[in-house]
Amino acid sequence: MDGKKIFRIGFIGMGTVGQGVWKHLWRDRDIMQRRFGAEYELAKACVRDINKKRDIEITRQQMTGDPYSVVNDPSIDIVCELMGGTDKALELTLAALKQGKVVVSANKAVICKHGAQIFETAQKYGGKYFFEASVAGGIPIIKVLREGLVANRFSLIYGILNGTCNYILTRMERENAPYEAIVEDARRLGYVEADESLDLDGWDAAHKISILAYLAHGVWANPEKDMLVSGIRGVKLEDMHWASENDARIKLVAAARRTGNSLFVSVYPALLPMADVVANVNDVYNAVALSGDVVGRTVHIGRGAGQDATASAVIADIADAIKSLAVSAPCSLSVAKDSNLHLASLEEVSGEFYLRMEVKDEAGVLAQVASLLAGENISIELLQQKKHGVEGRVWLLLTTHECTEASINRACKKLEDSEIIFGKPFVLRIFKGL
Ligand code: NAP
Ligand code: HSE
Repeated sequence: MDGKKIFRIGFIGMGTVGQGVWKHLWRDRDIMQRRFGAEYELAKACVRDINKKRDIEITRQQMTGDPYSVVNDPSIDIVCELMGGTDKALELTLAALKQGKVVVSANKAVICKHGAQIFETAQKYGGKYFFEASVAGGIPIIKVLREGLVANRFSLIYGILNGTCNYILTRMERENAPYEAIVEDARRLGYVEADESLDLDGWDAAHKISILAYLAHGVWANPEKDMLVSGIRGVKLEDMHWASENDARIKLVAAARRTGNSLFVSVYPALLPMADVVANVNDVYNAVALSGDVVGRTVHIGRGAGQDATASAVIADIADAIKSLAVSAPCSLSVAKDSNLHLASLEEVSGEFYLRMEVKDEAGVLAQVASLLAGENISIELLQQKKHGVEGRVWLLLTTHECTEASINRACKKLEDSEIIFGKPFVLRIFKGL
């Protein structure tokens, strides 16, 4: 490869993912370079603390504490943004793109929040932005949507996009162990993000499904304003038992469902029938199921997080980046928006629901629950009363016939405000997949 250009790669962030990428690009450089069809050099890595011990072969001269010494170095062709966060990551990404550089990122939070600005900047300044690792770790789902399934319109994209929640739910079910005990284990194993709410309250999965919904439909759904987002904190063993008695499994399901011209993007714990492949994807694994009008149904399963799975996706982007630089190809992110499409309101979306509530063990309570639901035009399908450990209380578990998201929300609020129930009703959606 003598005389040819050597592509120089800079890193901002050398933590879990950064070190995984560096490790593989360094250790397997001969085979990687043959596969990429070009030579590369691991030029520089920016970190917060340059004195921290790293588990990779990196010299002191290759490290810096100044991200601009990576971004503004004219000899660096590819900037890997593997630092996380939104504000600083955005600033550095835009600075690199404005110089026409290639940025490779695993940062779903910054893409979900600022994707429109990032893509516009890349286009305006001739920069390129690759982000395969931002969704579903090792599953190349972004390439699948943008390239492999480009012929399709998607009526439904759904799946498991948060490995930590899947790990917790899997262990709760397998070991009949309460949420609190397993979350504690997940923390100990380093699975739960430093900001726990990202995983446990569904925001991380919301960022990821928002990115997939954008790629499929050209519409940005803001998790806080346009999506229904709830996490797994309320899931109890009573729900797990109900699920297994009813041939179902509880998963944190992220979905983008198009009905006519309406698109509903959501993340919530749901009951999935065991016959659904996604219900059988366990531990830290992710799954994405797609229904395309040309291809039909496809399901993609793989590791959604962790050093090597994520590094695999980042390295795939680096390979694409090198190829695109070698032939001076423009960035191929062209997303078509259907001008008739709008984001659905909760009045437009309907489904069947499972409700669990802790109620007084008194005459007339069941009748009041039924009447309150009927007031919102909600009809009960199944109803079960179960023993509660506390005297004078019982668990009431029920499922509904089809009703709207808005009516179930109103009914839950009325139940919460009533005298008959302790705390809030806990809701699971009964998910109808492919
Ligand atoms: P991490 O282990 O916390 O590493 C972050 C790295 O960024 C560290 O090296 C840190 O430096 C550096 N850094 C942070 N702020 C900085 C700043 N202001 N200036 C310079 N350096 C800074 O995070 P990670 O798990 O590798 O995740 C990186 C990105 O990948 C995130 O966007 C994350 O959401 C995404 N991602 C992670 C996974 C996963 O499994 N971990 C999977 C998919 C996507 P120090 O080392 O000195 O602290
Ligand atoms: N916290 C994320 C998860 C990391 O558990 O899936 C990967 O994006």
